[in-house]
Amino acid sequence: MIAVDAKHGTACLLSRRRWTSKLLSFRLARDPSFRFVPGQFARLGLRKPNGSPVWRAYSIASAPWDDHLEFYSIIVPDGQFTTLLDALEPGDEIMIERSAYGFLTTSRFADGRDLWMLATGTGLAPFLSILQDEDTWRRFERLVLVHGVRASAEFAYREEIDALRRHPLWADVGERLVYQPVLSREPAPWALAGRIPALLDDGTLEARVGLRIEPAHSRLMVCGSPNMVRDTHRALMRKDCRLSRLAAPAQIAVENGW
Ligand SMILES: Cc1cc2nc3c(=O)[nH]c(=O)nc-3n(C[C@H](O)[C@H](O)[C@H](O)COP(=O)(O)OP(=O)(O)OC[C@H]3O[C@@H](n4cnc5c(N)ncnc54)[C@H](O)[C@@H]3O)c2cc1C
Ligand SMILES: NC(=O)c1ccc[n+]([C@@H]2O[C@H](COP(=O)([O-])OP(=O)(O)OC[C@H]3O[C@@H](n4cnc5c(N)ncnc54)[C@H](OP(=O)(O)O)[C@@H]3O)[C@@H](O)[C@H]2O)c1
Repeated sequence: MIAVDAKHGTACLLSRRRWTSKLLSFRLARDPSFRFVPGQFARLGLRKPNGSPVWRAYSIASAPWDDHLEFYSIIVPDGQFTTLLDALEPGDEIMIERSAYGFLTTSRFADGRDLWMLATGTGLAPFLSILQDEDTWRRFERLVLVHGVRASAEFAYREEIDALRRHPLWADVGERLVYQPVLSREPAPWALAGRIPALLDDGTLEARVGLRIEPAHSRLMVCGSPNMVRDTHRALMRKDCRLSRLAAPAQIAVENGW
């Protein structure tokens, strides 16, 4: 990381991967002093042609031990940050704050048996990092990753998620992970159809995963659009789950994806 000032540095764009015309992943070189807990986000900055900076939050998708930082991004039409991001080439520099932020971490839960990770769109990113943490695999008996998107082309990281089960650090417990895709705008036999809150309300999601959501055992992390987070939170409250706070640990942790 090249120092810009005490709070910010710059990092080199190492590579990009395009999933669709609107979805890409990118890797930045990581300064060894940049520390984060899986589930946290970084603040990234780019300069507009007039030189003024645009800063945005980005969940870290890579593992805490990787020597790079990976991010998974939407390209918003005319978005201030993502239009600039879309035009970058490997070798270009991105500004980055030196600290990571956020509370969508498994430390939010004091206990629990089953960890449910409920995501839509790029809300998948923090869970990719959480699933590369050995502590996640050892601490919970079941890991359930639910990813909701509009069209099947938007199911990024499917092969990587599948490969996680065979990671040498936790291959002995690799069968603990259940991955459940949810598709809202086209049918596919391997995905559930609809939206996550409705699939929670009618019991379809639990039936497909083969696991009940119970306050005593389930811990649930939610990341997606503000509306998805709101509606999923409400659906989980109808199952008697509550937001987990430091002073009052409970079942739910949420993060709005923008
Ligand atoms: C804690 C946190 C973590 C975030 N992590 C990520 C991440 O990992 N990946 C990522 O792509 N974005 C993430 N975002 C959103 C990101 O900060 C920017 O909003 C996004 O890069 C678009 O920036 P923009 O300037 O191009 O458009 P903006 O002007 O910021 O956004 C314009 C509109 O685009 C839509 N939008 C913004 N972000 C998204 C999104 N991720 N998916 C779908 N629609 C969106 C919304 O309708 C928003 O009102 C995160 C935001 C927060 C608060
Ligand atoms: N992805 C695309 O191909 C596409 C195309 C045109 C425009 N856009 C625009 O791009 C932006 C981001 O699109 P996105 O698809 O990445 O993210 P998104 O709109 O958040 O949708 C991602 C997934 O979340 C679902 N969802 C939306 N609201 C929800 C809620 N309240 N509860 C539960 N699930 C909910 C969507 O279902 P639904 O399909 O039922 O909404 C979809 O399956 C949006 O402003 C969108 O209008 C995207």
